[in-house]
Amino acid sequence: MSTYVNLSYCNTKVVVFVKEFLKHPVFNIISEIASLEKLQVYVIGGFVRDALLGRPSKDIDVVVVGNGITFAEKINNHIKGKSKLSIFKNFGTAMIKFQDLELEIVGARKESYRSNSRKPIVEDGTLQDDQNRRDFTINTMAINLHPDAYGDFVDPFGGITDLERKIIRTPLDPEVTFSDDPLRMMRAIRFATQLKFKIDVISMEAISSQCDRIKIISKERIVDELNKIIMAEKPSVGFKLLDKTGLLKFIFPEMDKLKGVEILGGKGHKDNFLHTLKVLDNISKHTNDIWLRWAAILHDIGKPDTKRFSEAGWTFHGHDALGEKMVPGIFRRLKLPLNQKMKFVQKMVLLHLRPIVLAQDVVTDSAVRRLLNEAGDDVESLMTLCEADITSKNDEKVKKYLANFKIVRQKLKEVEEKDAVRNFQPPVSGELIIETFNIPPSKIVGDIKNSIKEAILDGKIQNNYEEAFQFMIEEGRRLGLNYNK
Ligand code: CTP
Repeated sequence: MSTYVNLSYCNTKVVVFVKEFLKHPVFNIISEIASLEKLQVYVIGGFVRDALLGRPSKDIDVVVVGNGITFAEKINNHIKGKSKLSIFKNFGTAMIKFQDLELEIVGARKESYRSNSRKPIVEDGTLQDDQNRRDFTINTMAINLHPDAYGDFVDPFGGITDLERKIIRTPLDPEVTFSDDPLRMMRAIRFATQLKFKIDVISMEAISSQCDRIKIISKERIVDELNKIIMAEKPSVGFKLLDKTGLLKFIFPEMDKLKGVEILGGKGHKDNFLHTLKVLDNISKHTNDIWLRWAAILHDIGKPDTKRFSEAGWTFHGHDALGEKMVPGIFRRLKLPLNQKMKFVQKMVLLHLRPIVLAQDVVTDSAVRRLLNEAGDDVESLMTLCEADITSKNDEKVKKYLANFKIVRQKLKEVEEKDAVRNFQPPVSGELIIETFNIPPSKIVGDIKNSIKEAILDGKIQNNYEEAFQFMIEEGRRLGLNYNK
């Protein structure tokens, strides 16, 4: 049987899918122009894959055996006024926004790579050439849009079978496909994680043998894929594959360093890499906030450099503060944004032990007030991180911690309602201190302000103007300042 499968030979799933999928008016328009221009035109790649998986997407890749830009201009003229055309001459591609869809139109191309350059030599090619240059069999499937063969399913590499068997496999020799564009090593792992597929054995071997080539890929493209892994339902799958193939140590050495268990005097500590992955999977069940997921990844990142052994066992004192300091360096290197999102991650890393410490002791109002004051509006996120951080195999321990966290959450609510210390602003300003004691702006103003804040957090005074003002007078007097009524 030909590898160019006519629909009548295909399984029913493809037939049903193609019928459904070709209903969109845009395909009739493309088909009409293809006929007028006597061109072979196909829809290909991610859209076909995702539609077969029942995940309809709005991005449609169209391949024309001919000039893609000219063809796009013809389509655009046909639907003028209802669409927006953008042309990227350097890449030989065009984009049309039409209704809720984005069509990317490109001429079929043949790519060949030389060993000394990452830039391919690009020539016009056939559909088969275009399919050969793609990354995975599940991304090579095409559907003919020309009226003479409308709806024919073109699957030379058995992409449909791999989709059913849940396999990520390269169309050509994986050594070649990955060497041509090493980002595809990350993409293989990303698709495996997102789709819950397996990477076939020889593709895995090829990734392992050339993992160091990831170094030639830009950080932006790498982190794009990494973020997609992180946003998957079970991100640990991707991180374990990154580790198994050797990619992890190149793209994220700090995380690689979390691996392993050291045993001294018969005492071992937990494997912080596996623990971190558990925390990440746990938190992913409760949040789609990518930065909270990043906080889970980085919460123990300071552990390798704070690890100490004593008679009492292993300790990681100060790993929270060190971790917080490490975050900007990691974000900078990975080209993650150096903005409020990074600050949020830093705050989570720094504070991640606090609710646990709270839950171990008697939960006092003042400790809760301090936590609320430091975490501000992020206190809910912090609690989510801390709950995810409970990974003990001892069910009793887990139960105890979760019960204590319930108490902490309850207390947080009560104290916040009573004292409003979240996003707390001292009720007495620096200007008022200056005016009241008739002093110039100086260190002492800051000291008084700080004492007021501490008194409120300790519960010595209430968080209101009257009590804060009275406390300020007393504090000023204690420091030898004159108060002129
Ligand atoms: N492609 C490739 N090699 C890459 C990137 C992309 O061969 N490094 C091909 C694949 O055939 C892919 C198509 O280009 O299907 C479009 O790429 P892209 O839009 O990045 O990915 P999708 O497969 O559409 O998937 P997603 O939208 O999930 O990224």
